Amino acid sequence: MTIILGIETSCDETSIAILKDGNQILSNIVSTQINVHKRFGGVVPEIASRMHTEKIHFLLESAFKEANLNYSDLSSIAVTYGPGLEGSLLIGLSLAKTLAYLLKVPLIGVNHLMGHIYANFLNHHVPKFPFIVLIVSGGHTQLVLVKDYLEFVILGSTKDDAAGEAFDKVAKYLGLPYPGGPIIEKMAKEGNPRAFPFPIGLKNEGLDFSFSGLKTAVIQKINNLKKQAINFSINDVAASFQKAVIDALLLKSLRALKQYKITNFALSGGVAANKTLRDFFINELMNNGVQVFMPETKFATDNAAMIAAAGFVLFDNKKFANFSLKVKPNLSLC
Ligand code: KG4
Ligand code: ZN
Repeated sequence: MTIILGIETSCDETSIAILKDGNQILSNIVSTQINVHKRFGGVVPEIASRMHTEKIHFLLESAFKEANLNYSDLSSIAVTYGPGLEGSLLIGLSLAKTLAYLLKVPLIGVNHLMGHIYANFLNHHVPKFPFIVLIVSGGHTQLVLVKDYLEFVILGSTKDDAAGEAFDKVAKYLGLPYPGGPIIEKMAKEGNPRAFPFPIGLKNEGLDFSFSGLKTAVIQKINNLKKQAINFSINDVAASFQKAVIDALLLKSLRALKQYKITNFALSGGVAANKTLRDFFINELMNNGVQVFMPETKFATDNAAMIAAAGFVLFDNKKFANFSLKVKPNLSLC
């Protein structure tokens, strides 16, 4: 039996999870700081680290209580060491080192992006290797070929904004609160996605993404409508913008699947919590003979269960870290 404690503090969620044998979640406690950062229109790094420090020990206590376990039951400590906010990552890593040192169990450094990928392994049915995963979060938009448990090839990345970042920036422009994704999704449900035909970045070339042109197109459209005193529905803008993001993500994902002749596909990252996007991917990819996997919504956004799941894979492969492990704010997947 392998029991892994997962710790996640890379951005504005503090989370501790306890995972048995790679996929049985004994506890997954997530404390979000969104309500505090909201009033600043985005994450304030200094506040994020302070809040991790204030909360993390209470979460640790709750995680053990919920799992009904003791410290001595742990096989290993898995912690996010990058990418993310430096000060925030340091809080999780310091706790992880202290626990691993005192309990004399291996320390495992987990790449946050690998965590997002392995959120898909918390399900009953998991993707078969080789598979392609689309990571869509606030900081990343990447198509990755996963050849084996620890073999990743980046097939495409965003050239500018990440998909989640585009949701957040457009929401901010529309005067909506941070984070933009959930609120735009809600408004889009009441709007017409065909009201404004927004562009798809890098439509005809390759597997990379670009969302900054889309963001500018949305802003220009609103400015022009306002200048001409034309009435418009903000829900239509939200729906049309969301459609353009989904169309871009789908186009590149299908292109990658065809190019590499892959039939298993996984979604991951905060934007993968978007129900409209999930439904579109399921329909479109299944119509193309592709098996689609996605984490439950609560495991798509940042959480420690996914860090423990990736930690389990690293544990199994004896990829242990030593106590000189440093945080890496710009860490990439490979
Ligand atoms: O993976 P995540 O929790 O944190 C990072 O690693 O970045 O992703 C956060 C991002 C934010 O940009 C947020 O706006 C977006 O995920 N997001 C969504 C939804 N829920 C969260 N985007 C679209 N629709 C959603 N329902
Ligand atoms: Zn994330």
